[in-house]
Amino acid sequence: MRPQTRWMSLVSACGVALLLGSVSPAPAQETHVGNLTGHAPAGKQLYVRYCAGCHGDEGDAQGENAQWIDPKPRDFTMATFKCRSTPSGSLPTDDDLFNSVTRGFVTTNMPPWIALTPQNRVDVVSYVKTFSARWRTAQPRAPMTIPAEPAPTIQGILHGRELYQRMECWKCHGGAGHGDGPSAKTLTDNKDDPIRPYDFQTGSRFMCGTTNQDLYRIFMTGLDGSPMPSFADQLKPAEAWDLVHFLRTLQPLKTPEAAIWRSWFSTHGHELKPIGPGGGGGGGR
Ligand code: HEC
Ligand code: HEC
Repeated sequence: MRPQTRWMSLVSACGVALLLGSVSPAPAQETHVGNLTGHAPAGKQLYVRYCAGCHGDEGDAQGENAQWIDPKPRDFTMATFKCRSTPSGSLPTDDDLFNSVTRGFVTTNMPPWIALTPQNRVDVVSYVKTFSARWRTAQPRAPMTIPAEPAPTIQGILHGRELYQRMECWKCHGGAGHGDGPSAKTLTDNKDDPIRPYDFQTGSRFMCGTTNQDLYRIFMTGLDGSPMPSFADQLKPAEAWDLVHFLRTLQPLKTPEAAIWRSWFSTHGHELKPIGPGGGGGGGR
């Protein structure tokens, strides 16, 4: 390209950008997942058909079925979301919302929407983002980076157990992770509805995912709008991985962590102080 033509095309590119800028609002509500682009008008039709019965025509969680549902559907006018890769207080990314809609929220009435095509799901996410002006004024912050997972060891698991004690996870989740800690019965969410801590005995899945990476992300970013806080300011990445490996031993699952734990526990279990007020130590550390 000759210098002059290059200059010309630059000028016309700027012209187009200016023109678009003056006609359309800030592009924050555009939704991109992989190479798909979401369109809110197409999403609206899907939303009215599949989502409004719970989340309400206005996105305010006042759908006709909402009264029968516990936990309540998300109120999209608040623009506060539980499952995020972004820090506490931030909007979620498009991928986060897309994954939530695809996965559904286990143990709640929020179904997985795998029956909708990926394009349908990006469109409906686009429409969900029209219910709050926050999507026009704020950008999601950068997703938290998760360093590679180290192999689980008994030292790491025991360290994770100490962190579960010291970070006071037990106050809500209980010493054995049954969701029955001393604070459990008093907790409410951002709409003043009662909310119970997760019970690790219920099985493998979390609302916000299934993998060890998801588990790491859950307590490092927190579940905004619920009492489940973010621990990103208190835990270093290596500590967070130790905690992940300990949490896996609380679940009734055949995981590598549980196997390591069981074989150690059979000979050393008596050395441990139970988790709870003043507890959690032992294990030769
Ligand atoms: C049968 C009721 C029901 C229907 C239908 C439903 N949802 Fe939900 N949805 C819920 C409930 C309940 C929650 C909140 C679960 C919780 O907070 O534990 C929720 C939560 C969400 C969230 C919040 C994710 C987060 O990270 O906080 C999004 C996004 C969402 N729904 C999108 C949709 C979309 C899009 C549709 C339609 C395709 C839809 N929902 C249909 C009940 C429903
Ligand atoms: C103040 C009470 C409180 C404390 C302290 C607390 N949690 Fe939670 N946690 C909750 C509540 C409430 C929920 C359920 C949120 C919901 O259903 O939306 C939860 C949910 C979870 C979940 C499941 C999330 C999902 O996607 O289903 C995990 C994992 C978890 N907490 C881990 C931890 C860990 C690890 C700690 C300590 C480092 C901790 N929590 C400390 C209250 C707490």
